[in-house]
Amino acid sequence: MGETPADRARALLVEVQRHLAAGRLDAAEAAARQAATAAPGVAECHNALGVALRVAERFDEAAGAYAAALAIDPANARAHNNLGDVHRLRGDHAAAVAAIRQALALDPGHVEAWRNLALCHHALEEHEAAAEALRRALALAPGQVQLHYALGKVEHDRGAHAAAVAAYRVFLASVPDHVEALVDLGMALVELGADGEAIAAFERALALRPGDAAAEFGLRETIARLTPPWHIPMMNEPQRNLAYREAIRAVVGPDDHVLEIGTGAGLLALLSAEAGARRVTTCEMVDVVAAEARSIVARSRYADRVAVVGKRSTALQVGVDLPEKADVLVSEILADDFVGEGVLTSLVDARRRLLKPGARMVPARGDFMGVLVGGAYLEYLLELGEVCGFDMASFARLRPWRQAVPQRIDYDALSDDLALIGYDFADLDSMQPIDRTVPVTVTRAGRCYGVLQWIRLELAPGVTYENHPRSTESVWNKVLYAFPEPRDVRPGDVVDVRLWQRGDYLYLTGA
Ligand SMILES: C[S@@+](CC[C@H](N)C(=O)[O-])C[C@H]1O[C@@H](n2cnc3c(N)ncnc32)[C@H](O)[C@@H]1O
Repeated sequence: MGETPADRARALLVEVQRHLAAGRLDAAEAAARQAATAAPGVAECHNALGVALRVAERFDEAAGAYAAALAIDPANARAHNNLGDVHRLRGDHAAAVAAIRQALALDPGHVEAWRNLALCHHALEEHEAAAEALRRALALAPGQVQLHYALGKVEHDRGAHAAAVAAYRVFLASVPDHVEALVDLGMALVELGADGEAIAAFERALALRPGDAAAEFGLRETIARLTPPWHIPMMNEPQRNLAYREAIRAVVGPDDHVLEIGTGAGLLALLSAEAGARRVTTCEMVDVVAAEARSIVARSRYADRVAVVGKRSTALQVGVDLPEKADVLVSEILADDFVGEGVLTSLVDARRRLLKPGARMVPARGDFMGVLVGGAYLEYLLELGEVCGFDMASFARLRPWRQAVPQRIDYDALSDDLALIGYDFADLDSMQPIDRTVPVTVTRAGRCYGVLQWIRLELAPGVTYENHPRSTESVWNKVLYAFPEPRDVRPGDVVDVRLWQRGDYLYLTGA
């Protein structure tokens, strides 16, 4: 007996698989076409041709081949799923979902179809449906770890970052060197605020594939978020550093245990040791920063006297993180607007829990300074009129209520400089919430746009620091608080400045 067409087709289908496995796409297509010619009534021959064409990314022709298979055998679940797959690859997700659902109606145990369905829902941003399809696939094939990776991506995209991390971790337990999954894990960990673990994931990805741009981006972006761009120029500012050094020398004695809040690179802690403190405990809430400070301190001549604790000050415990309450508190956690870096909440907490009664403070006190301002540069920043012949004036209603302004801002002072708020860091009462109106007398006629604000510190008796807008270069920006509407003022007028502050938040406007 000779070879039947069905035998010939079967042999050719085996060849198709071999060619595909070896990446010989032309040979695979040729063998599939021969099989379809030899046995045109066998659906699998058309299915195999479709697969060869799909791998060659000829999706329209692949869809034709699958349709031919389904014309012969409408109950062929594989062909429905394959057709759905090429619909998906052609971007027709609705048609893809319909075809894949037909495959699943015929064969609910079709793992690949569940996975394809998940990919379609994911592309359609139907994340819950995508996750559900992947869970069905995983229930059928728990050993297919790729499904966990796909589930992680779906959870990630729908903002379920803890679930994404869990799924990525299951995948990485089986495929620990998967660079893309490590980067995805890092990104999801960043969303959860687990910066240290995120950095570890990005570093592992980079160790596996040095120079990987996504991993480098994740690593450097995470570090950048944790270490604001002002940190290096701040430490390069001699006036600030020298004023602190002078104040610390004036205040710190040899019997003192100094607590510093906000280590940064460790400068003020080292200056405290240099001033003779018997012991310095310094805390830093950002882990990567604390680790760097620890190594700087270890290389310094004060390694035996300075302890860096990688915690937020509000989490410190006497007897655990510091051996005893402190005699002196040193800090530089002041934002442009004075309060935004948490100085008040941190110092109030420290006074209550971490300091001996009567402990000395560096800085000792500080003022939130302000002046009413007008002038052409303010007009440029905050007002609009006609632009290219169009009336744009109303857009200025959206002016920012506050903004940081350049070091040498050009402005007209319409009042005297005023200490709008004074904080005495030894006096808890001066650090309570504020809601008050300060009347400010106008000294010069002009259009008043709001208040320009800066900070003035008394670091120790006789040692001051100020980033006055006229006279200093400083790492601290001045802050411009714009009133909702500018107003024309004359000498003798009184402008009521409304001040509201709760903890780390401060609002200023014209009443
Ligand atoms: C402005 S930098 C000053 C760094 C250093 N003390 C210096 O003056 O060069 C403040 C640092 O304090 C940290 N920090 C702010 N508030 C903190 C707090 N309550 N507890 C621990 N660290 C804090 C920030 O992460 C930042 O690294």
